[in-house]
Amino acid sequence: MLEERNRLARELHDSIVQSLYTMTLFAEAGVRNADHGDTVKGTQYMERIGETSQQVLKEMRLLVFELRPLALEQEGIVGALSQRLDDVERRAGVEARLIFDEPISLPSRMEEELYRVAQEALNNSLKHAAATHLSIRIATNDGLVEINVEDDGVGFDTDLVNQSGGMGLRNIKERMERLGGSFTIISSISSPGEGTKLRVRAPISDPQTTGEPAHP
Ligand SMILES: Nc1ncnc2c1ncn2[C@@H]1O[C@H](COP(=O)(O)OP(=O)(O)OP(=O)(O)O)[C@@H](O)[C@H]1O
Ligand SMILES: [Mg+2]
Repeated sequence: MLEERNRLARELHDSIVQSLYTMTLFAEAGVRNADHGDTVKGTQYMERIGETSQQVLKEMRLLVFELRPLALEQEGIVGALSQRLDDVERRAGVEARLIFDEPISLPSRMEEELYRVAQEALNNSLKHAAATHLSIRIATNDGLVEINVEDDGVGFDTDLVNQSGGMGLRNIKERMERLGGSFTIISSISSPGEGTKLRVRAPISDPQTTGEPAHP
């Protein structure tokens, strides 16, 4: 795993850092030419910046795909979540349950988004809730997948959360929008022990049409 990380770090450095550096040079050259009134050359540099950034985008996507958690790749979302609960929650003394009633089969990109959503919900419970019990329920029904993450912690005021400046819930919202799904969170500070209930739901997409990004 460490070796894999080192390889990715090297690749990141070799390809992407190089390309970004090249882009700064193109940008400087472009500005110089524009300053001297040579708009033709200036435009050419702009085009090269565009091409190079397209290249960087492609490389980033590949790397991000490679960084998919190994457990997710090998065991699917249920296996990966189960491993996470073993590795993190139970070690922290939280009584954690994973509930699912049939094998869950999802397109891999969807699986990854949902795994990240569940991971953030778990991180939040661990960081903020001081919960003693936690459950994740994952179910598919009528072409929908639904994940519920519930804790019995201190809860929070959902009306005030936008001012807290955290990225986690915003990311969950964005991921669910990308999946054409929904995200709700119910929590209250006035009923201790009720904790927080997070629910996400999304239509299970056809892997044939969503397996690859639509743009290069
Ligand atoms: N399960 C939870 N129990 C108690 N409070 C929560 C829970 N989930 C979220 N919160 C509250 O909502 C806030 C916003 O959560 P969010 O994940 O967006 O940000 P964060 O966790 O503070 O930071 P980040 O996710 O960027 O590391 C948290 O700071 C916390 O106050
Ligand atoms: Mg968070």
